[in-house]
Amino acid sequence: MTDDIENRDIAGAAASSAPDPSAAPDDSIDLTSIHQPVLLDDCVDLVTSNLAASAATHGGTPVIVDCTLGLAGHSSAFLAANPDARLIGIDRDAEALALATRRLEQAGFADRFTPVHAAFDELGAVLERLGIHQVDAVFMDLGLSSLQIDETDRGFSYSHDAPLDMRMDPSQPTTAADILATYDAADLRRIFKEYGEERFAGPIAQRIVRERQEAPIVTSAQLNDLVDRTVPRAHRASGNPAKRVFQALRIEVNGELDKLASTLPQAALRLAVGGRLVVESYHSLEDRTVKRFMAKGLTIDAPAGLPVVPDDAQPFFHDVTHGAIKADDAEIASNPRSASVRLRAVELIRPIPASRRRELADDAAGPGADGTRTPGTARRRAGRPGGGHGRSAGHRTQHHERTTGR
Ligand SMILES: C[S@@+](CC[C@H](N)C(=O)[O-])C[C@H]1O[C@@H](n2cnc3c(N)ncnc32)[C@H](O)[C@@H]1O
Repeated sequence: MTDDIENRDIAGAAASSAPDPSAAPDDSIDLTSIHQPVLLDDCVDLVTSNLAASAATHGGTPVIVDCTLGLAGHSSAFLAANPDARLIGIDRDAEALALATRRLEQAGFADRFTPVHAAFDELGAVLERLGIHQVDAVFMDLGLSSLQIDETDRGFSYSHDAPLDMRMDPSQPTTAADILATYDAADLRRIFKEYGEERFAGPIAQRIVRERQEAPIVTSAQLNDLVDRTVPRAHRASGNPAKRVFQALRIEVNGELDKLASTLPQAALRLAVGGRLVVESYHSLEDRTVKRFMAKGLTIDAPAGLPVVPDDAQPFFHDVTHGAIKADDAEIASNPRSASVRLRAVELIRPIPASRRRELADDAAGPGADGTRTPGTARRRAGRPGGGHGRSAGHRTQHHERTTGR
């Protein structure tokens, strides 16, 4: 049963992880214009259109979890669209959390909103702390907010010289500079190749290892210069040649793929029947992780050819988006960040059978589930097949991609 939560009750339970008001910059910032939410109308529709039906299965208040609150662009629209819903907003960036909290308070949503400072792979523990057993929607909008990208001093951007930090949560111990100083050439090559799809991953890794013996590589200008001297001009794609190396380092510093892979099963295990998991990815490896995870619940978990499929082998998800939704040309023109988005959503259509819950619980306990992930472990899970071993429900499940026709 979902608890019929009152915000005053859960606010106390979450107090240890509430945002630090000192983390917020000044009051004059227009919070609605810093970050443009991607595919906003689709997300609002996917997250809110089945909330009432889902909540009716447990008789409680509809509960939405936004695992990537950011500046609450999506969340404020979810709360506006459903006046009964309560929202738990998680972000590992204390500054974003403080700004989002201020925005939602200003919009009059304070009594329906609970901020939580945590990494999203702590989802199960967060809900437990709040006394919530089932939720009606879990939303994820992966990656960085425009606020983070624009904050030149955090080293996310290759176009500004800054210390190579790249931590979304500055209280985490490992920075990008630490990785460049300590990983051997093979590990550096692996992350540039896997997470950045960088053709010159090997030569870049070798040069890093060679040059750090002379001087540590600690600024984005140094790394830009090193990549510029390594990637042959004739083989450069458009844009900054260091773009893919920066992306790879950010994914590694923040353990992004590990955390995603262990969060999705935690979300599924907490969904009420009728509840939805809605995810926006911006990187092919993220989208592959999401797609494979969803496929597990969309397929029959039994050998092909069985005359009767046992109940506990039946699919437990319905593919609401029929594959991935992409941004249309108009949105891409007004918000270039939307160009790579893939939005996928599934709905829980029946209770997850015990044997499959155990599998999900195993997946949920991946590296980082206890918040102690060490950079360098992402490889083990990123390439692991997450499903697809079963056959699809009755007819084949279609995983085509479509463009929104708005
Ligand atoms: C793209 S932004 C979300 C923007 C938001 N949807 C909006 O409309 O304002 C992604 C947010 O997720 C947060 N984030 C990324 N990885 C996270 C993780 N593992 N745990 C918690 N928050 C995370 C980032 O700090 C960032 O604020």
